[in-house]
Amino acid sequence: MRNLTVRIERNPSEGHDIHIGREILEAAALRLMSSGWGSRYVVLTDSRVGAVHGRQLMDLLRGTGARVDPVEIQPGEASKTVATALDIIRQLLSIEADRHTCLVALGGGVVGDLTGFVASIFMRGIPYVQFPTTLLAQVDSSIGGKTGVDLPEGKNLIGTFYQPKAVFMELSFLDTLPQEQMREGLAEVVKYGLIEDPELLSIVEARPDLCSRKDPDRLEEIVYRCALIKKRFVEMDERDQGVRRMLNFGHTIGHAIEAESSYEISHGEAVSIGMVAEARISLKLGHLSKGEVERIEGLLASLGLPVRVPHGLSTEGILAHMQRDKKRSGNTRPIVLLKRIGLPFLERDVPESCIRETLMELQS
Ligand SMILES: NC(=O)c1ccc[n+]([C@@H]2O[C@H](COP(=O)([O-])OP(=O)(O)OC[C@H]3O[C@@H](n4cnc5c(N)ncnc54)[C@H](O)[C@@H]3O)[C@@H](O)[C@H]2O)c1
Repeated sequence: MRNLTVRIERNPSEGHDIHIGREILEAAALRLMSSGWGSRYVVLTDSRVGAVHGRQLMDLLRGTGARVDPVEIQPGEASKTVATALDIIRQLLSIEADRHTCLVALGGGVVGDLTGFVASIFMRGIPYVQFPTTLLAQVDSSIGGKTGVDLPEGKNLIGTFYQPKAVFMELSFLDTLPQEQMREGLAEVVKYGLIEDPELLSIVEARPDLCSRKDPDRLEEIVYRCALIKKRFVEMDERDQGVRRMLNFGHTIGHAIEAESSYEISHGEAVSIGMVAEARISLKLGHLSKGEVERIEGLLASLGLPVRVPHGLSTEGILAHMQRDKKRSGNTRPIVLLKRIGLPFLERDVPESCIRETLMELQS
């Protein structure tokens, strides 16, 4: 098992550990038992994850002598709403959960974001821990304490910053993850490589078939490196005011593509196209080299991720969504670009004409 510690400067008591490895659940249950974070546990999961991994975790937790109750939601982004959060809270009340109850998030980013959100508001805040089960949740969403739910007006519009007590990344959970979900996570892995860790890119390049043949040692190395990068950014900028924004490489254009497709294009696919677009903009503005842009496109394509804007998505529509981006300030168009692979920076105002030209070039 490999361990990392997240240090939170604002409040050191919110610092916590991340544990990464295969077959770590038993050790995790013992850690929980000795932690004093809760006298009982509620395992929050979605019905798909619950069916494959719920029993094992609940049995291990019960084996420590603690009371353990399950709460299940429907799988998918559609569950990440205020209504689901309230429903969970009512279920917590009906089983008389109290401030000594620790919530356990067992699932992907949807379950993790919802559990963190509920934990942050139920009885003014109760402890929670994360057991992320998707690659995306392991390399990204379970770290950093951003919680939230969606509104019809947009994703993650209600939320809190609320750190978990611990994160347990059981790599064998990924054995049951469908290929499309692996690909979602790999888009974020490539992003980490591009903004911070060129060696990570080489590791992924050496095994582009990771989606179908889940090489355990390589996966552990990949998850560890990504978790380390995310933790460092979170430590430097917990509240997403400055350097944590580098994690948005590929996301400014990616989010607009996702929204313009009415979420038909998945997040990972949209981020892949967004990274290609933002790499090309970096080249146009005199930063990245042509060879580096070709390398990025080649790697994403070899992972089965899209590198062109799908037919039928309007460039003007994508630009309009970028105008409404919640991370924008004033009338400028800030985008994270790359000086070179491993060196991101925030370009505060990318000319609209440059974005338009790039998107048109990428129309398939
Ligand atoms: N908090 C953050 O910092 C942060 C960062 C990035 C993304 N997110 C959020 O994460 C969410 C996306 O997360 P996601 O991609 O993990 O999606 P998800 O939670 O919807 O999981 C994807 C699907 O995979 C299934 N699944 C999960 N683990 C499985 C396993 N081990 N075996 C088989 N099936 C499994 C789930 O049931 C679901 O159907 C979005 O809501 C996004 O906003 C949050």
